[in-house]
Amino acid sequence: MTADLIVINIGILLTPKVDKGPVRGKDMDIVEEYQNAFLAVKDGKFIDYGTHDFQHLVGDDTEVVDAEGRLVTPGLVDSHTHVVHGGSREYEFEQKMRGVPYLDILKAGGGIHSTVKMTREISKEGLYAQSKKSLDFMLGFGVTTVEGKSGYGLELETELKQLEVQRELHENHPIDIVSTFMGAHALPVAYKSKRKDFLDKVIGMFDTVKQRELAEFVDIFCEDGAFDVADSRYLLEAAKKHGFKLKIHADEVVALGGVPLAAHLKAHSADHLMAIDEAGLRALAHSDVIANLLPSTSFYLNSDYAPARKMIERNLALALSSDYNPGSSPSENFLFTLNLAAIHMKMSPNEILTAATYNAAYGIDRADEIGRIAKGYKADFVIYDAPNWPYVLYHFAINHVKDVFKMGIKVIENKQKVWEAKQ
Ligand code: NIG
Ligand code: FE
Repeated sequence: MTADLIVINIGILLTPKVDKGPVRGKDMDIVEEYQNAFLAVKDGKFIDYGTHDFQHLVGDDTEVVDAEGRLVTPGLVDSHTHVVHGGSREYEFEQKMRGVPYLDILKAGGGIHSTVKMTREISKEGLYAQSKKSLDFMLGFGVTTVEGKSGYGLELETELKQLEVQRELHENHPIDIVSTFMGAHALPVAYKSKRKDFLDKVIGMFDTVKQRELAEFVDIFCEDGAFDVADSRYLLEAAKKHGFKLKIHADEVVALGGVPLAAHLKAHSADHLMAIDEAGLRALAHSDVIANLLPSTSFYLNSDYAPARKMIERNLALALSSDYNPGSSPSENFLFTLNLAAIHMKMSPNEILTAATYNAAYGIDRADEIGRIAKGYKADFVIYDAPNWPYVLYHFAINHVKDVFKMGIKVIENKQKVWEAKQ
């Protein structure tokens, strides 16, 4: 068998070292490293890689790309975003700069509620165009798969509009999108004293979302000022019965108990965790729930960072995501998220690589197809204009990505887009 594509002269090829389940604790710091390596692709998947002889894979039709000694990693996986939303919130930036807390803006009817209004008002075409622009940025930063959530409709029509746009983008854009239904992202003001009614309304949307195959996961914002643990249990148990996989926004500001709930319900991930407590740490140490950390949100909200070192000591499995959204993390720059994980959370370069690829894929139930360079995995990979991975993390806020390949197809070349959308 000969390859469709072979990349030669890879200075350093890095990929997470995987055994069974997510990569936990100190194992996150061990990755496979090959110097002066090659990788080979056929039918969109890796068929071989390493430092051994590859001449038998070169046929008349094989395309050969010379990496000229550069660094190669698997395509990055951004496993927590709110990429599809209408408008932006720069007018709240001034309030934020004056020190008004995020939850106070939300409680006053702004924050998420402002974006809900803009997402309800924008046309489907407008929403598609805005979100596509964000995906283009993300792809340029080496991201080849994202998770995206609804949650800026809080009523059926707009929630479906978000999820439909997400599906169209999944089909038309090189980035693969894994969809999450987050109808319980905030409590609409009209339901202030009728929380249970609102939760029942969201649960009432599950059948439609399921029948139209618009989402795999259900997520809820378990936080002071949003939904409490009893609400979260009620909604997530119903979601599980409907056949959805689960995620939870927990311990972003206050540790309410959402993390032990995630472990109890066997959620795929518990996300944020800046305020995680002992009960949360213990629950995650004894489960396969991914601790999905979002340092760009801490940066933007000027708040604490999740205690990554403590989590690694306690043998948790960490992922890192941008949380790209208009209110608490308005940047698609996933490499900057990784810079912050190094600088503020003291994660090592190898731990960061594992968290941004394989463990991220694990948290969105894609660990058997993306997140590593391995035979049979999707040939999603990135060539950096950088000599090594620590350099990318140290030389911060710069895009070091040179080329991006999605299923063996070059989609970014020399930082330029080289693919055409189907519509
Ligand atoms: O993950 N915390 C809840 N949701 C988002 C913020 C959404 C917004 O402010 O628009 C988050 O931080
Ligand atoms: Fe979020």
